[in-house]
Amino acid sequence: MAPRPLIAGNWKMHLTLVEAGKLVDALGALMLEAPDKPACDIVVCPPFTLLAPLSIACQKYGFGLGGQDCHAEEMGAFTGNVAAPMLADIGCSHVIVGHSERRSLQGETDAMVKAKAEAALAAGLVAIVCVGETEAGRDSGKAEEIVVGQLLASLPQGATAGNTVIAYEPVWAIGTGRTPSVEQVAAMHKAIRTALAGPVAEAAGMRILYGGSVKPGNARELLAVENVDGALVGGASLVPADFWAICTSCT
Ligand code: 13P
Repeated sequence: MAPRPLIAGNWKMHLTLVEAGKLVDALGALMLEAPDKPACDIVVCPPFTLLAPLSIACQKYGFGLGGQDCHAEEMGAFTGNVAAPMLADIGCSHVIVGHSERRSLQGETDAMVKAKAEAALAAGLVAIVCVGETEAGRDSGKAEEIVVGQLLASLPQGATAGNTVIAYEPVWAIGTGRTPSVEQVAAMHKAIRTALAGPVAEAAGMRILYGGSVKPGNARELLAVENVDGALVGGASLVPADFWAICTSCT
């Protein structure tokens, strides 16, 4: 059986405290008023400063709460960083690791991403491990090879369907309004599922999200693709009606 879909909103470096409260309350109102609840789990991933203040509201509305990154160490002299147990301590359920913006702008390698994911698991968090090829990678005709390589090198030791989520985010589709064709998405997600069958016992139950320019207008089509078990949403997660429309596109 396919896993229950997960829709995660990655707010990136956006929103003030007041704006964030309004966004979560607007989503919460949509959730409370909906006669039929969306057929997915919902997680919001705000910047660090907004996590603690949003924790109670997210709990009230049944939304998971995720950090956008964590450090690989449990604690220590790492100025400016946040450890996975600190996220768990303030009510987080999830943490994104290895987002392409961190891989490219902060120089994060697969080994670093793997260590962060392992720290997340050790803290009891669900790790959302991101992978994805660049435009040059896609043009090289080796996108699946590149992504599977990243996946196997970034996957935490001890990954299970319950503690790890994979997010396939082609770098060229992030924030560009461009998306791969459904055939390309289907082929990549199948390749990821097949690769997971080696290291993960219940690979069929591990969620594989698609991310990159998911909008209300294309969500239904993307979420219907085989082996797509949800979405990691950037820009559209900042607009309550849009994020909600994506959540309700899950069937
Ligand atoms: P967009 O939905 O804005 O393309 O961002 C995708 C993303 O990077 C989510 O992590």
